[in-house]
Amino acid sequence: MSEKPVVLISESIYDKGKSIFDSADRIQIKRVPPDEKSLSSKLKSTQAVAAVLGVEKYIDTLYQSMPNNGLIARFGVGYDGIDLHQIKSNNLVLTNTPEVLDTTVAELTVFMAAELLRKSGKYTARMKSGIWNSTPGMDLSGKTWGIIGLGNIGLQLSKILHFGFGVRVIGLKRDLSNAEELKETYGTSQIFSDFDELAKQADILSLHLPANQHTHHFINNEKLAKMKTDSFLVNTGRGSLVDEIALYNVLHQGKLGGAALDVYENEPYIPMHPEKDFRNLDNVVLTPHIGSYTHECTDRMAKRVLQNIYCFLDGKYEEMDLVVNNSI
Ligand code: GLV
Repeated sequence: MSEKPVVLISESIYDKGKSIFDSADRIQIKRVPPDEKSLSSKLKSTQAVAAVLGVEKYIDTLYQSMPNNGLIARFGVGYDGIDLHQIKSNNLVLTNTPEVLDTTVAELTVFMAAELLRKSGKYTARMKSGIWNSTPGMDLSGKTWGIIGLGNIGLQLSKILHFGFGVRVIGLKRDLSNAEELKETYGTSQIFSDFDELAKQADILSLHLPANQHTHHFINNEKLAKMKTDSFLVNTGRGSLVDEIALYNVLHQGKLGGAALDVYENEPYIPMHPEKDFRNLDNVVLTPHIGSYTHECTDRMAKRVLQNIYCFLDGKYEEMDLVVNNSI
């Protein structure tokens, strides 16, 4: 009987999808620390055909250590940690797990905004120390919410906000051609191609753009200055979308109502400047990159990863979530 093909899975990802990965009977799974050096040496020593990776950044030896036509399977949707040039020059295939996390990330985005508006976390802490007092919060219903990036997650969020909470949803998008369809299906009432116009109206603004060189520091000093001074920013996309020093400054100076952040320029979070630490501010809500991290969603992502690996082994490329296919 021939040996089952070896697939490397970065340790933290294996733990997230353990029950699904343990049920995989067509492959031999080997767990590896997520750093590039460990992965690269294990790829060579095991002759693995595929590597399942998380959000970490891989810049160098990983790619040359993959076999020709090998598969890099992202457990998740963003692939900003992967060097697409290296994928191409080393004849590799790259997949991700789209759609299965849209609702989960959209839900967290709403929950984080809810925390900014009603502060249940802060009240819980106060109640636990015996304090019974409160100041008024704010309704979500009736607010205008600007969605930056109307991809799968942005549109799912729009649907939840409009049809579930009665929010007026507006969105930013270069191409305005399907505005009517977006309004009907997702409740996005108005599409703007200009950030300043959208920012003038938004009470809450959330980011759902892919991270790349064009979107780096999308939210910067200039854009923050265009936002309403009592508005909120929610980022469940990627840390690099926001210039954290610029955001800290406006929050500290009271020029923005508040911010909810699930993703950071440095993960685990280290402030970009030691004196500009979000943890010292009152008007922020912080979570440790948990956008897609629910039991249900990690199971769905693990299943999707396995499906991509099996299709890859069977040569069924058309059934895979291909980001790039440079196999030859
Ligand atoms: C998580 O951040 C992902 O890219 O899926």
